[in-house]
Amino acid sequence: MSRRIPVTASVSPAILGEKLKFSTSGRVARNRFLKAALTERVSTYVHGDPEKSGLPTPQLCNMYSKFSHGGFGMIFTGNIMVDKIHLEAAGNAIIDPSLNSPERREAFGNLAKAMKSDPEVLALAQLSNAGRQTPQFLCDEPISASDVQLMATRRGYGFGKPRPLKLEEIKPLVIDHFVFAAKFCKDAGFDGIEIHSAHGYLLAQFISETTNHRTDKYGGSLENRVRLNLEIFEAIRKEIPAETGFIIGIKMNSVEFQEKGLKCNEALVMCKEYERVGFDFIELSGGTIEKLAFSHLSDSTMAREAFFLEFAKEIRPQLTKTLVYLTGGFRTVPGMVKAIQDGVCDGVGIGRPITAEIDFPAKILSGKIQSALINPFDQDFAISNIASNTQMWQAQQTPYNSNVDINAGIMDMSNEKVEEHFRSAVQKYAEELVALAKTGKPLYGVFNYTPEQLCEKVAA
Ligand SMILES: Cc1cc2nc3c(=O)[nH]c(=O)nc-3n(C[C@H](O)[C@H](O)[C@H](O)COP(=O)(O)O)c2cc1C
Repeated sequence: MSRRIPVTASVSPAILGEKLKFSTSGRVARNRFLKAALTERVSTYVHGDPEKSGLPTPQLCNMYSKFSHGGFGMIFTGNIMVDKIHLEAAGNAIIDPSLNSPERREAFGNLAKAMKSDPEVLALAQLSNAGRQTPQFLCDEPISASDVQLMATRRGYGFGKPRPLKLEEIKPLVIDHFVFAAKFCKDAGFDGIEIHSAHGYLLAQFISETTNHRTDKYGGSLENRVRLNLEIFEAIRKEIPAETGFIIGIKMNSVEFQEKGLKCNEALVMCKEYERVGFDFIELSGGTIEKLAFSHLSDSTMAREAFFLEFAKEIRPQLTKTLVYLTGGFRTVPGMVKAIQDGVCDGVGIGRPITAEIDFPAKILSGKIQSALINPFDQDFAISNIASNTQMWQAQQTPYNSNVDINAGIMDMSNEKVEEHFRSAVQKYAEELVALAKTGKPLYGVFNYTPEQLCEKVAA
């Protein structure tokens, strides 16, 4: 039996169906729903061979044509890496100037086409460089703002000590890569890009004093730490002017719960700068790999649903042109509607609930549901992250077919039997990851777990 998060009083979803107009590019999202970026880790990967790596596959396109029909106003890819070395994981899609080829252009063209299979949806590519958050098996000495090592493990793997980018390297190694990737995405048929400057990746490493100890024009004052993002924006806009209708947004942290991490008042100053230069939208998030924030860190945020709501509340009213999306924690229609009505955000970004139910927005807007399916792992990001990757992989196994349930083949963790079976399977998988990490061998892909495995078990 499927189970949903209980809602005490239903509310009309009408406000969520309102259009949003981006003031710089002039484009319009048909409603307030955003499919947040969710790394898929299933593009091609051949260890040590970037030419053969990072190509989106037909299976990935299967999933995105489903998301295209899920009822969203705007959908994002997972992080596409703009540097062939500094990946977030093996299996990321990659666009790097040195890997330009007709084959790569065709693969990304197919991805954009799949995302636009409902042409009314805005399809954006999220562009990123992992910097010091590049797993060590991919790079021993990654680039960063400074030489502050990430002392954490992810899926069992650690991270190397980074080297600070030299001043003269910032343009060729960072800015030019983002510009190249943005143009590549435009040519491929995407409606725009989102620059990933959240969650501790390279651009966030420049923003946060925890990781930026520079003394040149990219370090020290807030004005200096935000400079790189502004330069990237301006360099892209120079090549792709607003008149083209190409959307440019940014994902940023509203807060980092670390001693020297970004504070909300600093985030506000940055947002005003982003608005000044003309970003179409800002997507507010929070946390880093070192200090994850994708769960309720206090009881008080639980009632308000969205994790970063109290920070967004300070930021959104100060902006007049740039639209604000808030991502993280939205699970019910009353929670989303209240955030919009209170002026906390213009749009709602959704992550984990939509890997379980791709047509979550469509069902909400048609009045069928008021909340997400129960996710028993929602408060445990490590497991819910693996589970979401698995659900996305499951969705990739079949093409979109309007005659078939869009969620067919995706495990329903709200079902207690599924939960129980997946819980023990994922435990075993996590142990395998740790053992693999100890060998130093590369980790590629995600947990390929099928509901059939569950059926066999139940039948036995
Ligand atoms: C499987 C998975 C992959 C993610 N990958 C990305 C990513 O590539 N880029 C990004 O900005 N955030 C990524 N996130 C964070 C989500 O976009 C979102 O901010 C987070 O899950 C909180 O939203 P939720 O509570 O609705 O899941 C990922 C989250 C999950 C669960």
